[in-house]
Amino acid sequence: MSQTQGSTESGSTMESILDEHRHFKPSKAFSSNAHIKSMAEYEKMHKRSVDDPEGFWADVASELHWFKKWEEVLDWRLPDAKWFVGGTTNICYNCIDRQIDAGLGNHTAIVWEGEPIVDEDGHHAGGEPEVRKLSYYDLRREVSRFANALKGLGVQKGDVVTIYMPMVPELAIAMLACARIGAVHSIIFGGFSASAIRDRVEDGKSKIVITADGGWRRGKVVPLKDNVDEALTLTDLVDTVVVLERCQNDIHMVDGRDHWWSDLTATASEHCPAEEMYSEDLLFILYTSGSTGKPKGIMHTTGGYMVYTYLTSRYTFDLHPRQLCDEELNEQCRGDMYWCTADIGWITGHSYIIYGLLPNRVPTLMYEGAPDFPEKDRFWDIIERHKVTKFYTAPTAIRAFMKWGREWIDKHDISSLKVLGTVGEPINPEAWMWYHKVIGNEKCPIVDTWWQTETGGHMLTPLPGATTTTPGSCTKPFFGIDAAVVNSEGEEVGENEGGILVIRKPWPSMLRGIYGNRERFIETYWSKIEGFYTAGDGARKDENGNFWIMGRIDDVIVVAGHNLGTMEVESALVSHDAVAEAAVVGFPHEIKGTGIAAFATLVGGIEETDKLKAEIRDHVAKELGPISKPDKLRFTPALPKTRSGKIMRRLLRDIAAGREITGDVTTLEDKGIVEKLQKQTD
Ligand code: PRX
Repeated sequence: MSQTQGSTESGSTMESILDEHRHFKPSKAFSSNAHIKSMAEYEKMHKRSVDDPEGFWADVASELHWFKKWEEVLDWRLPDAKWFVGGTTNICYNCIDRQIDAGLGNHTAIVWEGEPIVDEDGHHAGGEPEVRKLSYYDLRREVSRFANALKGLGVQKGDVVTIYMPMVPELAIAMLACARIGAVHSIIFGGFSASAIRDRVEDGKSKIVITADGGWRRGKVVPLKDNVDEALTLTDLVDTVVVLERCQNDIHMVDGRDHWWSDLTATASEHCPAEEMYSEDLLFILYTSGSTGKPKGIMHTTGGYMVYTYLTSRYTFDLHPRQLCDEELNEQCRGDMYWCTADIGWITGHSYIIYGLLPNRVPTLMYEGAPDFPEKDRFWDIIERHKVTKFYTAPTAIRAFMKWGREWIDKHDISSLKVLGTVGEPINPEAWMWYHKVIGNEKCPIVDTWWQTETGGHMLTPLPGATTTTPGSCTKPFFGIDAAVVNSEGEEVGENEGGILVIRKPWPSMLRGIYGNRERFIETYWSKIEGFYTAGDGARKDENGNFWIMGRIDDVIVVAGHNLGTMEVESALVSHDAVAEAAVVGFPHEIKGTGIAAFATLVGGIEETDKLKAEIRDHVAKELGPISKPDKLRFTPALPKTRSGKIMRRLLRDIAAGREITGDVTTLEDKGIVEKLQKQTD
């Protein structure tokens, strides 16, 4: 069955809605104005991009600004790729100055909305949300000032600058300022705790932290500066802290170490030339959870990352900048207003709020706060007021919206929307269909984008004007991507057979390593199947060549779209005095996709109480941040182990999901434990 986006019958039964053979073709009206208009065009371009990657990527790179052209497009010595070798550029220049050079300096670069609803005097009551619009001129001025402030503090090219900030324009300004002067940013999501800051600061050997007195979330202040203060009691590496005043709350400033953002920028010059960077110079480090040990500092370099995020942004979201037509802007002339709801602290925010978007000359919207503040219609209100055309969010958020009910959406005119994106975890077909019908009014193509912190940009994704979509599938590889599903020998498996998802050729935005840990880089990504990048996901490919992600094949769980290593949560559990041993698994969760189920044995003599359970769960939240707090915790006198002492996580997964245990339990040491655990409630 094949249908157009505009013609889904609303009376369909649930079975047919969830039928994976249900296909949605982009409408002719959409395709005719799209960059990529048909599957034939996609296939032709994809073929060229994998047959002649050097020619393909050189053409794309030529659209951007280079101080000096590259000598070689690709130098590939597995597992090390160098792209645009010898070329020099600056990604901040391409985000801002290139637009100014083209005469577009007054066009909007960033639209920001704060969470509080404030009145004219800035009081938090009634009134309108706080909105700031920054043109490319504004952004260059602010970025240059802060870049000069950083230089004044002694920051030099190659230094690692830690950024721990709320979703305010200054976060974008800080990252762009680092890129402008060639400093390497390491951004830490504002929901992480003090120990996460300490770990990342130490791993990156970073001497400077940029933060804020707080950020607004659901009407409350997130105490970012307090968390930094606490982290810095755990390490003495940092000698400089820059503090942005955002919430006017009480914080403690340490003499000689802490500086107000406003003081530093007040006297800084607004002229700061963009540093000429080699294509392979490090742009940023971003930490992601691994299956063992501490988070990995994923390294991304300048040129390849810039080119890849630029092209994926344009094609995946079918971005169209504002036209230079007459004053009375009609819809075509107005161009896109793009909104990605991720936090910049994640790779999605790096690539698809800032670095991929700004070079495309499309305004990017940043929102500071929660989707349900002050009411559950905040997102739809934002879309209506800012006439958002391209919207990118996570399945977890979509499932929460479904639960809240469509009355919140019906209050608003969201007809400006044209493309809907999703990222971070598999989207279940029910949520896909709801997104398509209720948010997209059956006219917006849905782009389910599969990628990773490590890949830097979209790898498997529909292209909205070309791809026939199917709920639950992230469809086909982007240009330049040679993806396959293979067995452990590296051979492609048959149609609809599950296997390991691999990428067989280098692509421009691939990770260049794990900061300070070459061995772990090779071991994690390049040693499972010889010659291929292994993503850590299982997948299958259907009869139409569409990919279906089947979940992680390692001990990483994806909770509400965030990658968490079960080991990290286990370590946090055992760092509580009462816990002797712990195991963590994922279980199906209605909203988050996957929830965290923890099993713990207590130190001898300690009583199992509900109070202690709550205390241990809070302890994990404090150690790692609220997203890592276990949803369920069960005490057990021992963990189910094989005779060789390996925890049988498979059993724990069944128990956590409330499923019957069907697999083999013959190797289990003590069967009584499983029975006891099954009887317990959470
Ligand atoms: O398991 C896949 C899942 O998220 C992992 C990557 O997580 P992270 O590096 O935090 O990046 C998230 C944002 C890009 C993947 O290995 N994942 C991401 N997108 C999808 C997905 N699973 C299914 N479908 C997706 N669209």
